[in-house]
Amino acid sequence: MEKIQEEIERLRELIRHHNQRYYVLDDPEISDAEYDRLFQRLLALEKEYPELVTPDSPTQRVGGEPRTGFMQVKHRLPMLSLENAFNDEDIRDFDSRVRKFVKEEGPVQYAVEPKIDGLAVELVYEKGRLAVASTRGDGYTGEDVTANAKTILAIPLKLKSMSGERPVPELLEVRGEIYMEIEAFRALNRERADQGLPPFANPRNAAAGSIRQLDPRITAKRPLNMFCYGVGELSGLTFETYYALMLALQDWGLRVNRPHIRVCDTVEDVIEYCHRLEETRGQFAFEIDGAVIKVNRLDLQAGLGEKSRSPRWATAFKFKAVQETTRIVNIEVQVGRTGALTPVAHLEPVEVGGVVVRRATLHNQDEITRKDIREGDTVVIQRAGDVIPEVVKAIASHRTGNEKPYVMPDACPVCGSKVERKEGEAVSRCPNPACPAQVRASLNHFVSKGAMDIDGLGDKILGQLLERGMIHDEADIYKLTINDLLKLDKIEQKSATNLMQAIEKSKQTTLARFIYALGIRHVGEHVSQLLANHFLTLENFQKATRNELLSVKGIGEEIADSILSFFEDPSNRDLIERLLTSGIRFEEMTRPEPSPIEGKTFVLTGSLETLKRAEAKDLIVSRGGRVSSTVSRNTDYVVVGLSPGSKLQKARAFGVATIDEAALLHLLGLE
Ligand code: IVH
Repeated sequence: MEKIQEEIERLRELIRHHNQRYYVLDDPEISDAEYDRLFQRLLALEKEYPELVTPDSPTQRVGGEPRTGFMQVKHRLPMLSLENAFNDEDIRDFDSRVRKFVKEEGPVQYAVEPKIDGLAVELVYEKGRLAVASTRGDGYTGEDVTANAKTILAIPLKLKSMSGERPVPELLEVRGEIYMEIEAFRALNRERADQGLPPFANPRNAAAGSIRQLDPRITAKRPLNMFCYGVGELSGLTFETYYALMLALQDWGLRVNRPHIRVCDTVEDVIEYCHRLEETRGQFAFEIDGAVIKVNRLDLQAGLGEKSRSPRWATAFKFKAVQETTRIVNIEVQVGRTGALTPVAHLEPVEVGGVVVRRATLHNQDEITRKDIREGDTVVIQRAGDVIPEVVKAIASHRTGNEKPYVMPDACPVCGSKVERKEGEAVSRCPNPACPAQVRASLNHFVSKGAMDIDGLGDKILGQLLERGMIHDEADIYKLTINDLLKLDKIEQKSATNLMQAIEKSKQTTLARFIYALGIRHVGEHVSQLLANHFLTLENFQKATRNELLSVKGIGEEIADSILSFFEDPSNRDLIERLLTSGIRFEEMTRPEPSPIEGKTFVLTGSLETLKRAEAKDLIVSRGGRVSSTVSRNTDYVVVGLSPGSKLQKARAFGVATIDEAALLHLLGLE
């Protein structure tokens, strides 16, 4: 038995060593086949002697049982983000600030390295063993992804000094970026396409979706990788420079981007290396979206310290956004709820950074004129981060002579009113509050899920009611009778009855929903909740002064002024009166406790067991969270019920955390 134990230990040591050569140093000493033989032998022994399996054995990476939600992990030291530098001047300014702060006349040395487009994680090693891996989260609290991290071969389960020169610290918190190589990402998407699954939009989403998997066995199948680029707590050891620290991490078996970390003696060297990285970004096996510039001396870093969200000793030089070329088929104007006219370019579909783009905003007439954009033009479009794609410029040399210059109409394309544009504003608006496009959009907003939530009252029925003059505004909805509804096309007794019930039911609502339903400009669901939490009654809200409004956290001047001018308008006050007379009532409000879901965005999919959709939504919103119907990268949690829909796939594609009902109840403080 002792012999077996010894052989197992020896195999583990060997495999760890070769893992390090392969994954960390990119310099294997043995062939893959030889490695496989070692691994298979260890597996066989452990299978025969299961009592000898230890959690840090290299075989223990396959992943355990799926979980229902992620536990929260508090970072001992906050995981900050970086300020951005967009050009050479910004880099020089950063250098000047650094030198001024540390009172250095001469140049300060910097370490510069690629900014990996993945997601930040923290690995906590206690006595050299991987204890906890967590995502960055909001910087203070992240999610426990230990089981998943253990499946990543570049993450050692146990640290050991390769050179034997540096003892492994008692406590080491390493930070770094988890990412997926571009080739691996493409292969994964090909595989998903074969299985009829939606593709990931880009390697970052693929990496994020994979690490935040509830089932670690799925993570284990995803080719994830990691580069370390910093530490949190580190006990017992000190280093002079960031570069020396990176060498130590590498010596302990952690993967750092050593060949691409450049120590620069002057800011001009920094700038040159940043440009070099940008020019060669296409040659990297992984996506990089910038260069990170860090003060190399750790004592200077400590002296510089940090601001609330970012350190003073580092900055990120951001590369230019990803652009693509396509053609504008035509330009259309959309009239929004507030009358704003937005020109939208309909494009020949094109993929930009992994996403198919069909429409792009042209913002307003000034932008169209300034960029001289014409219908039929070949244009450059860009998706910068999360924003809606926009048209950057037209390529004049591609013109055939058939392109048509575009001028926004003087009249509203829907009601024909003369369009207005305020002095100093770029937006043109249809000034007619009775414009059918505006009225219809407002009504759609009023009945929508987050507002009065009148189920079954969709755009088509609203359209008919408006056309037949049966309603003119929101309050008229509550005067409708079943006989009115039965006069409409394609509506039967049953759906008319249901609709009447839904209208009746909507009268019992919350103050936040009602405020949101009013459609006050700049007052969305979240702001409505802030206002409701603060004022507690509609009366208090209606008589709030500008100063009172401004005292509410999250309410700035623009919102305050918009609210004031809404209540100044007698027709709005009248509308509210009529709505209240029709029987709209609010639930009693008490001042809420601060909640962990404050400001977080949720998407619900599938049916929940104990909560109804609407209940879940109200509970989330009442605690300061938001509920959205579509999954985006800004979504914090997708709540997965029984028979989830495509939102679950999307959550995975965007790397959004998925939780079950129990985890939701927990977050809501109901369990
Ligand atoms: S250093 C105090 N180095 O960029 C933060 N960050 O915007 C120190 N990132 O959250 C971060 N590659 O996820 C650093 N080589 C690199 C990086 C890097 C990617 C990410 C990281 C961080 C974000 C900051």
